[in-house]
Amino acid sequence: MPVLLGVNIDHVATVREARGGREPEPIAAALLAELGGADGITVHLRGDRRHIKERDLFMLKDIIATKLNLEMAATPEMVGISKKLKPYSCTLVPEEPGELTTQGGLDVISHQDHLKEVIKELKEQGIVVSIFIDADSAQIKAAKAIGADFIEIHTGVYAEAETEKEQEEELQRIIEAARLAQNIGLRVNAGHGLNYQNVRPIAQIPGLVELNIGHSIISRAVLVGIERAVRDMKALLQ
Ligand code: PXP
Repeated sequence: MPVLLGVNIDHVATVREARGGREPEPIAAALLAELGGADGITVHLRGDRRHIKERDLFMLKDIIATKLNLEMAATPEMVGISKKLKPYSCTLVPEEPGELTTQGGLDVISHQDHLKEVIKELKEQGIVVSIFIDADSAQIKAAKAIGADFIEIHTGVYAEAETEKEQEEELQRIIEAARLAQNIGLRVNAGHGLNYQNVRPIAQIPGLVELNIGHSIISRAVLVGIERAVRDMKALLQ
């Protein structure tokens, strides 16, 4: 079975927030992503609300036909919002104020007690819980021990590798991490930094359930759409 595609639409909201207005509407983007075959819609509600807002979450939950995956920090505020929203899944991610994007996986080992409690609360609401972690066997075992359903393996190091050798080594690490996780009963997703050039070796890893891809898809959407958008404006000027 081919790996599923979760489309992260955060950066549609980033463009909206550049003007603080109504467009582009992330809800419309989600519906178009589904028309294109997206198997799920992913959004990250950040503490600073720099792109996605609560309003987007609740509208998406009502409107999309696929699964809503909410990326969030394991904070009381986010747990409270998840309990009201009840997305299909929550992916716990580390979050640092001011970071450009998520920097690496969550350190499960250092925060096991807190994370265990958060996972329990979310699972009690029927929410599937995933943890975004590095391809590290100790972190994977800790994720299993505290009750996660899924892990999402961080592919950022693979994506940013500067040489083919580094990239191949990181790919092997991810393959081994996925195998270990599956062997101990975790389901495995992957994501971060995946694009049209580097996705194929990751998509071929046996047993991966879903890839979460955002920035490269939204970037391509801008470029493949610009000619049509200019033509539409020119037509209005005739
Ligand atoms: N998975 C997780 C846990 C993330 O935090 C992100 C970025 O929000 C992604 C996947 C998608 O990464 P990208 O936008 O680089 O495709």
